[in-house]
Amino acid sequence: MAGAAERFVSVATRAIRESGRFIVSLAGGSTPRQLYELLATPAYAKRVDWSHTHVFWGDERCVPADDPASNYRLAREALLGRVPVPDANVHRIRGENEPARAAAAYEEALRRAFGTREGPPSRAPGHRFDLVLLGMGTDGHTASLFPSLAAVRENERWVVAQYVAEVSMWRVTVTPPVLNAAGDVVFLVSGAEKAATLHRVLEGPSEPDVLPAQAIAPTDGDLAWLVDAAAAAQLQAEHR
Ligand code: 6PG
Repeated sequence: MAGAAERFVSVATRAIRESGRFIVSLAGGSTPRQLYELLATPAYAKRVDWSHTHVFWGDERCVPADDPASNYRLAREALLGRVPVPDANVHRIRGENEPARAAAAYEEALRRAFGTREGPPSRAPGHRFDLVLLGMGTDGHTASLFPSLAAVRENERWVVAQYVAEVSMWRVTVTPPVLNAAGDVVFLVSGAEKAATLHRVLEGPSEPDVLPAQAIAPTDGDLAWLVDAAAAAQLQAEHR
């Protein structure tokens, strides 16, 4: 996770130097916890200007903020409660609200932060996510873009709510156009249970409806996969 932490610091430093602030979208699930805890240590926390950092999420479960399943709670416990990021700079998805209303409110917050009231997201620095952290499920989903759901192909709305049968819950997710406008996208994937899916996503045919992680291809930004050895076990040599 040190590589991911170094990337977080370097993207933050560059963004604040170039546009005066760092806009990051955090990942949910369990993998990023280790990264968040590492970023909260003095070795890294002191290298980020948290007062100019704005924190968003790629998705959220439709649960209260203090629910164990909340992606906001994960980040608050592992990172945000341990670094001096101003509360006003933390823009959580209000999972406790009615899903469609939470999605609309979050899209409004994103549009306000990016300065893009209408239309597609800009790719100009300062008007997009500087960094998007993502995970990948064993079914190839990322954020809450799940196989065969309409959100994978959404290209108008920036944020949508959908009921996800696989996890028997409502989810709010940022859509591919916004994620793909980012300056830097980093997938964090670990564990042997991800190896077969990672091989299909990176080395198999393009089928984003089946493997939504394939829908993430930054238009002008960089894409990195930070993967541990177990998850990389089925990748061909040149991808390791
Ligand atoms: C979520 C995440 C989701 C996650 C993957 C991988 O809300 O669950 O946005 O996309 O990144 O499910 O989760 P793990 O890191 O727990 O394997």
